[in-house]
Amino acid sequence: SGLNTLAKAKGKTYFGSATDNGELSDAPYLAILSNNKEFGQLTPGNSMKWDATERSRGVFSFAGGETIVKLAEANGQFVRGHTLVWHSQLPTWVSNGGFNAATLTTIIQNHVTALVTNWKGRILHWDVVNEIFNDDGTFRSSVFYNTLGEEFVSIAFRAARAADPAAKLYINDYNTDGTGAKSTALANLVRKLKAAGVPIDGIGIQAHLIVGNVQGSFATNLAQFAALGVDVAITELDIRMTMPSTASLLSRQADDYRTIVNACVSVPRCVGITIWDYTDKYSWIPSVFSGQGAGLPWDQNFSKKPAYASIAAAL
Ligand code: XIL
Repeated sequence: SGLNTLAKAKGKTYFGSATDNGELSDAPYLAILSNNKEFGQLTPGNSMKWDATERSRGVFSFAGGETIVKLAEANGQFVRGHTLVWHSQLPTWVSNGGFNAATLTTIIQNHVTALVTNWKGRILHWDVVNEIFNDDGTFRSSVFYNTLGEEFVSIAFRAARAADPAAKLYINDYNTDGTGAKSTALANLVRKLKAAGVPIDGIGIQAHLIVGNVQGSFATNLAQFAALGVDVAITELDIRMTMPSTASLLSRQADDYRTIVNACVSVPRCVGITIWDYTDKYSWIPSVFSGQGAGLPWDQNFSKKPAYASIAAAL
């Protein structure tokens, strides 16, 4: 068995994990990551972001992303490309460049075209735009929105489709786990983009969650997104807790993972689940959410936690 094997038996395309280049020299880590019975898909956690790929204008570096694409290919795993247009990890030459609308349009088109063309035919999904909404459903202030209005979204999607017609193109966000203002805004935008003929194929739900706080409307929301006529994917799943972890917290965490996996299983157009790395050893959580951690199904010594068994049972 293994999580990917089980997911495929449920009709899903993959169960996957994020990873990052610096972790690949850890041999025990790499051995589990490379096991395609556990993981049928990899997402580069950082190495395809704008600051990693176009640090100065028109100068592209694909080496970090390529390492992960080659690893996935060697293991028979799909790749989710992450991410083309995002306000964060964005070089200041873009964010502070003071470009007018026409120039920023060209900059977006060049960036998207360069990355998507470079990996043409080798990327299953691209997260074309990432985190474009505020929690109240308004558009986030960013150089992209502030210069171009919401048009930056269709500019990015059209450039991505032109560069690789086979890649499925996603809009990805967080705090879109349950129903509410942000999920409604996301659904409304996707409906509008599809009506306008903008090439969008999927909605990514990051799902950076907290033990005990998983919303009851998660499955309803997933189904609501799928009903728009797009695929949905859970793209960055982790379920963190206030440290230290205890048996009781680990057991509640297992219940929460089961809730999420059950939701994806219940929605045919939920094509896959990606955890945001698989081991607590390399989770981003402790560095960003002070005092929290232990969000992943494997602990920092690569032992499976109760969450692993509950995911496997739900698949
Ligand atoms: C995180 C990475 O995991 C960290 O290593 C990095 O320092 C910051 O970004 N939403 C996203 C991801 O879409 O790109 C973020 O990844 C986590 C939140």
